[in-house]
Amino acid sequence: MTAPIIRTRQELREMTNAWHRAGETIGVVPTMGALHDGHLSLVARAKEMSTHVIVTIFVNPKQFNNPDDLANYPRTEHEDARKLERFEVDAIYVPDGAQMYPDGFATNISVSGLTDVLCGAHRAGHFDGVATVVTKLFTQTAADFAFFGEKDFQQLQVVRRLARDLDLGVEVVGCPTIREMDGLAMSSRNLMLSDQARSRASALNEVMEEMADALGQGAAIADLLPDAQARLAAAGFGDIDYLEMRSNDTLTLLERATAPARLFAAVFMAGVRLIDNIDVPLAR
Ligand code: PAF
Repeated sequence: MTAPIIRTRQELREMTNAWHRAGETIGVVPTMGALHDGHLSLVARAKEMSTHVIVTIFVNPKQFNNPDDLANYPRTEHEDARKLERFEVDAIYVPDGAQMYPDGFATNISVSGLTDVLCGAHRAGHFDGVATVVTKLFTQTAADFAFFGEKDFQQLQVVRRLARDLDLGVEVVGCPTIREMDGLAMSSRNLMLSDQARSRASALNEVMEEMADALGQGAAIADLLPDAQARLAAAGFGDIDYLEMRSNDTLTLLERATAPARLFAAVFMAGVRLIDNIDVPLAR
């Protein structure tokens, strides 16, 4: 059955008040739509942990620093609602810009430190936009649990930090990255790749997995980068925003895997910016 599509805060509040009055819990899965199996795995986890599940769909203009990127972002509401049918979620919240940012909206949520690096260093204002909209989505949905993919690992850490710092009363649950058969991390952006670019994009995961193995054996990342960069270029990747190893908790740059760490990449394939990150075993 298709879940009710809720477009206003008032309607949403009536639902969530009734659920909380009955002592029931609410899990929220915030998305920008164009749902794929990665999002659906978050919905499945939300169903396991909460009495009621709300999926939100809002292409948040505040987190885009490139107007073309915002304009080209896929918008597939009907298809998304159809994909959610089998999960029997309780509501799909699809606010418009006026619901989220009414006239005179003047507040910005900014998480410092964690946002200075990786995507934060390359996409000015991106994480302020994410932090602001996520805070609003948490309060509008009155969520007890919120589900985010590790694919956007930096985002997950930023959201965890803001939920804790602002006492939002939401438990932020991180869920594993879901990959295509060839290893490419699922992302709504993959829809923007031509068939040829899509087939070349799998090289990113291959290169990263090999780097992570070598790092786990004690290699220094500086020694691995020239070959990795050459292989990405040979596969058709263009600019590399970053290809770095950082600690899991504070995202501190690491040369060797001396602490629990992940390898992070943001690279362009045919003009589409793809990001990925994978676990690095502790160096032996
Ligand atoms: O990961 C996303 O899709 C977005 O950044 C989010 C969390 C829905 C906020 O707009």
